[in-house]
Amino acid sequence: MNKRSMGPGTLLAPLPVVLVGTTGETEHDGVSKVIQNAMTAAWTGIVNSEPAMLSVSIQPPRLTHRFVMETGEFSINVPTGKIAPQVDLCGVRSGRDLDKTAACHFTPVRLEGLSVTAGIAECPLILACRVHEVRRLGSHDLFIAKIVNVLADDDLFDGDTLNLENRDLLSYMHGNYYSQGERIGFFGYSVAKQNVLKRRLPKAHWPKNQTLAL
Ligand SMILES: Cc1cc2nc3c(=O)[nH]c(=O)nc-3n(C[C@H](O)[C@H](O)[C@H](O)COP(=O)(O)O)c2cc1C
Repeated sequence: MNKRSMGPGTLLAPLPVVLVGTTGETEHDGVSKVIQNAMTAAWTGIVNSEPAMLSVSIQPPRLTHRFVMETGEFSINVPTGKIAPQVDLCGVRSGRDLDKTAACHFTPVRLEGLSVTAGIAECPLILACRVHEVRRLGSHDLFIAKIVNVLADDDLFDGDTLNLENRDLLSYMHGNYYSQGERIGFFGYSVAKQNVLKRRLPKAHWPKNQTLAL
């Protein structure tokens, strides 16, 4: 396949898209008040397993940046396609001008392990995070944080098993939002034995013998 060399760029896809929940004081219409803010972020990801850690890159001018610096904590809220318009709004309007929690009809949920920051109840997965390290990179500051607790909606479980298939979890690619579609593979399926594939995946999605040069 011919490739086009595009030079340096940030074209990684697909990306998760999340709402970063923070809290702090700001002024709306000349009145100072404490708000729960939500900012859309696509530049986030898991960076360590023991201890559980994630990163999120935030530009210094964002209100979210100030709130995270002041409190040392934030929540990462994984949205569904159902609230995609709210997710988009939280990415195009600042909490400096708008109480986004009110505008989006978000319900704050208390998070164990954080002192002041809430999660967003309308998101089925919520990760409570405490800042471990901040790195100045250039356009963005990279916040590396410990995940101190995870909240998952009851209806994500089949009995005791967490099942994230067809939950409409939102992703983001090159300027567009996608809701999660059909599951086509699982961690390690490219090297899984036939009996494991048979048990866990429809045949249509089994890797073909010639797909990989192992
Ligand atoms: C899909 C999408 C992804 C975004 N990802 C990021 C991001 O990773 N980091 C960032 O600093 N801003 C990101 N933004 C921009 C902020 O969400 C936006 O500037 C927001 O208004 C900041 O809100 P705040 O001032 O209330 O913190 C993104 C916006 C959209 C729509």
